[in-house]
Amino acid sequence: MPDSDSANLGDLPGPLVLIGAGKMGGAMLQGWLRLGLDPRDAVVFEPQPSAEIAALGARGVRLNPQAATVRAAAAMLIAVKPQVAAEVVPRYAAMAGAGTVVVSIMAGKTLRAIAGLLPPGAAIVRTMPNTPAAIGRGITVAVANPHVTAAQRTLAHNLLAATGAVEWVADEALLDAVTAVSGSGPAYVFLLAEALAQAGVAAGLPAELAAKLARETVAGSGELLHQSELDAAVLRQNVTSPGGTTAAALDVLMGPQGLAALMEQAVAAATRRSRELAG
Ligand SMILES: NC(=O)c1ccc[n+]([C@@H]2O[C@H](COP(=O)([O-])OP(=O)(O)OC[C@H]3O[C@@H](n4cnc5c(N)ncnc54)[C@H](OP(=O)(O)O)[C@@H]3O)[C@@H](O)[C@H]2O)c1
Repeated sequence: MPDSDSANLGDLPGPLVLIGAGKMGGAMLQGWLRLGLDPRDAVVFEPQPSAEIAALGARGVRLNPQAATVRAAAAMLIAVKPQVAAEVVPRYAAMAGAGTVVVSIMAGKTLRAIAGLLPPGAAIVRTMPNTPAAIGRGITVAVANPHVTAAQRTLAHNLLAATGAVEWVADEALLDAVTAVSGSGPAYVFLLAEALAQAGVAAGLPAELAAKLARETVAGSGELLHQSELDAAVLRQNVTSPGGTTAAALDVLMGPQGLAALMEQAVAAATRRSRELAG
């Protein structure tokens, strides 16, 4: 059963405050409402709400109320760009009471940096989501600071599960490698679709057909992987007959300068960059 099916957002000890309802924050809010969040329990701060977010006002979501009218939040999700965090987060910090769990999805902002913008002793969960969250198929990795209680961790988990799978790590340092694998990973998969289409053109296919074949192959294989209980390696072996066409291609892709070596270099480069940007 996907994580999101077991989440229960119908009974919260206080409002759920969303700071920043852009692409990621907006997708999370829609997911929470699908999971049974009472719209009257949602408070959204967003200077330029999209039409979809503005329309939620009619369902009871409070959009940009006076901060002082918001009583202690059960959870506060920070989904603004990391570059504006230092300016924006302190404006809302007073809504984070003793019982509030603050969940940040800001790429690269460490627990320590986020704590510096909030009242002392704040319970904080730092996370790294990825873009398939927009269709409820993301994966988010989370790490909690020592002030987060078991109940707050469960609430944070349920909030994050609204956009896909959730994994927890105890060591914050792993978030750099997580960023390099699942945070940036969708771009690698899109590149695979681009490269496969280009290779199809080089092999003589019309560009439009090559693009369609590559797109549907990447998307369909991703879905097969999602639905199957088999490992990727087993699925690969299942479509590879000895001496056949797939084997001929895999001899190239799995050679010494092949995809595994390239991917290792790529992930190492992204991990290094994530460390450089952390703050
Ligand atoms: N997109 C991804 O793949 C991805 C993956 C992992 C993590 N993240 C993280 O998710 C966060 C959000 O990314 P995003 O792609 O959703 O960005 P986004 O679409 O730009 O969303 C950020 C939103 O915050 C709003 N905002 C700015 N100032 C505010 C304020 N004072 N109070 C309330 N809201 C304010 C922005 O409004 P304006 O447009 O008016 O400035 C915008 O709507 C980032 O920290 C990013 O690092 C994103």
